[in-house]
Amino acid sequence: MVCSYHSRMSHRNIILIGPMGSGKSTIGNIIARRLHREFQDSDHHIEHRTGVDIARIFDVEGEQGFRDRETQALQELLGEHNRVIATGGGSVLRPENQQLLKQQGYIVFLDTSLNQQMQRLRRDKKRPLLQTADPRARLETLFRERRPIYLDLADLVIKTDKRVARRLAADIINQLPESLK
Ligand code: S3P
Repeated sequence: MVCSYHSRMSHRNIILIGPMGSGKSTIGNIIARRLHREFQDSDHHIEHRTGVDIARIFDVEGEQGFRDRETQALQELLGEHNRVIATGGGSVLRPENQQLLKQQGYIVFLDTSLNQQMQRLRRDKKRPLLQTADPRARLETLFRERRPIYLDLADLVIKTDKRVARRLAADIINQLPESLK
């Protein structure tokens, strides 16, 4: 069984999960600044480590290769405490990642509609999983597969639609346990 949040208080990371286009990096950055914490983004960490972008990693190593790097990035980033961490949309897929996220932080799920994701990602050229003839169908499939996992992992669920990042960040901070503020 995965331990409850109260037995994990000492780790004190704040972890943002949610689909592509949910605003994890933007909102995570604002929260980190307001709480005087270090911000880290797992995709940026991977790009920094490898010196190439995510699309190139998918090209050369395939999705499995990327997922291995993602697990390693999460292990590195979550080894420290008191950070705000934005994860990639698929980082919740592996059971070992789920366990790690649960153990190492307070998890905030940015619950975003398909329409909002589409609006934000319509012209995206960077995300390998969306470079298909029908990105909406792809997002829909991912939404169906992953939303139950996001919900299951979340300590806090925040609906993001039609709200600006600054407000969302303030709302999240208000709802955090006092020990994390
Ligand atoms: C992915 C999401 C991306 C990135 C990669 C795969 C996914 O991150 O990790 O393209 O599987 O949903 P964002 O959620 O930050 O876009």
